[in-house]
Amino acid sequence: MANFHDKVVYQIYPKSFCDTNGDGLGDLPGVTARLDYLKDLGVDYLWLTPFFPSPQRDNGYDVADYRAIDPRFGTMEDLETLIREADKRGIGLMLDMVFNHTSTAHPWFQKALAGDRKYQDYYIFKDGSPDKIPTNWVSKFGGPAWEYLPALGKWYLHLFDVTQADLNWENPEVRAELAGILRFWKDKGIKGFRFDVVNLISKPEVYEDDHQGDGRRFYTDGRNVHRYLQELVAAGGIDGMITVGEMSSTSLENCIGYTDPDRHELTMTFSFHHLKVDYRNGDKWTLMPADHMALKNLFAQWQEGMQAGHGWNALFWCNHDQPRAVSRFGDEGRYWKESAKMLGTATHLMRGTPYIFQGEEIGMTNCHFRSIDQYRDVESLNYYQILQQQGKSSAEAMEIIQQRSRDNGRTPMQWDGTTHAGFTTGTPWIGVVDNYPAINAAAQVDDPDSVYSYYKKLVALRKQHRVISEGQIEFLYKDDPDLLAYRRWDGDSQLLVLCNLTGHEAPVQLPAQWQDAGVLLGNYPDAAPAAALRPYEALVLSLD
Ligand code: GLC
Ligand code: CA
Repeated sequence: MANFHDKVVYQIYPKSFCDTNGDGLGDLPGVTARLDYLKDLGVDYLWLTPFFPSPQRDNGYDVADYRAIDPRFGTMEDLETLIREADKRGIGLMLDMVFNHTSTAHPWFQKALAGDRKYQDYYIFKDGSPDKIPTNWVSKFGGPAWEYLPALGKWYLHLFDVTQADLNWENPEVRAELAGILRFWKDKGIKGFRFDVVNLISKPEVYEDDHQGDGRRFYTDGRNVHRYLQELVAAGGIDGMITVGEMSSTSLENCIGYTDPDRHELTMTFSFHHLKVDYRNGDKWTLMPADHMALKNLFAQWQEGMQAGHGWNALFWCNHDQPRAVSRFGDEGRYWKESAKMLGTATHLMRGTPYIFQGEEIGMTNCHFRSIDQYRDVESLNYYQILQQQGKSSAEAMEIIQQRSRDNGRTPMQWDGTTHAGFTTGTPWIGVVDNYPAINAAAQVDDPDSVYSYYKKLVALRKQHRVISEGQIEFLYKDDPDLLAYRRWDGDSQLLVLCNLTGHEAPVQLPAQWQDAGVLLGNYPDAAPAAALRPYEALVLSLD
């Protein structure tokens, strides 16, 4: 039995979690201050998104120094205190390693700019003239993926922002530097790592135009990626630690490879196919209601496929790059509470390791900002312009940004009903969602019927029932568009998880053996096997 199967990870976006010095930015002492809350929720690990020195063009995913703390977030002593205090509560810290690229403010890139050949080989530079871009690849944040440097007469590759230069993993010195960073943090007492867009690190031998797409097929799950990961894990001394790779546009086959324990790569992967079921033709910037059949098929395919291949999934709806699940797949209004609980049930009882993103456990919603100056994310600001250049009116562009902006997941944690939701005594760096007087942690921690208490139960159940952490999984009612359903089993114990994905009743014909099964959990007060599920009902039946 792997040591992480019964664990739950809580993701913290420190900038928006808790501010202790009134500068409007969350900080590391703010995380320490809230450890008792996290302990009460029952989570085992905290994944903290980057707090390293950074120009913050991409909120810290543009790292300028991998071995220090950005003073805005605190000091190394603050981090050591956090590690120690978390450890006292049985909680381990996972750090976010952004190893596909560095900020152009990183000393390596600065030395490259100054003409140092050694450091130019740390990045992907191509000689050329300003009128001849090396390839037609598109940056993930919009615009070309190459930038020209007249002083050097060279282009450099940036799959993300122009200030995020891709590292050259072909260079063994780069790989050794990155492994050294892992050892540095491990020695500080860090217990695990999340690797940012790590399936993009291995670039092709030949750089060529993509006439079918934006270039991703040439560098996604690239030719040496598995070898590089094996080497990084071994050289970084992190084999056996909990690790999760963020995999952009990946495949099931590769994720099996990344997580099969015999291969010593990663313990689990984030894949995103299930979060594209409301993208029309795969385009994030074209709105569409969620396609429930696609969602169900993807869950079934990934859950059953990873099981067959001895892989392991990270289970999640929310993170700092995604709109809030309750707004997106649930109902913010009449069925807010029911749908928030149903969504938690759906993922937490699957085979894999659940991730809770700060605020999800209290049912935080999208922000619904109405003006572009309220947004902060570089991707949202870019696409607001791009959409209008493509002919959308400003109102249409705003509507799309409102639904799709990553800032939906980045607004301050709603701690209580006081000014700025108790996040800061100063002016928050990004607005607080105006529903905080109703939706906040203080109102929920002692309420047994709250979304918070329900999440707490989900976390506890994973530790009490081996069938949840270790059981097999099989999907049921595969043709029913409204019902997400699966069975888990381990020895004699069995669970049936039923989730109504819609706001209307969903009839269900239960197999005879389940008709008088016990109820392990439900999001309606009088939960029992019945002929139909109520709107957004989640029902978990158990047989021993
Ligand atoms: C990942 C991060 C995202 C960041 C990007 C580039 O997708 O989660 O926030 O912008 O990588 O580092
Ligand atoms: Ca602060």
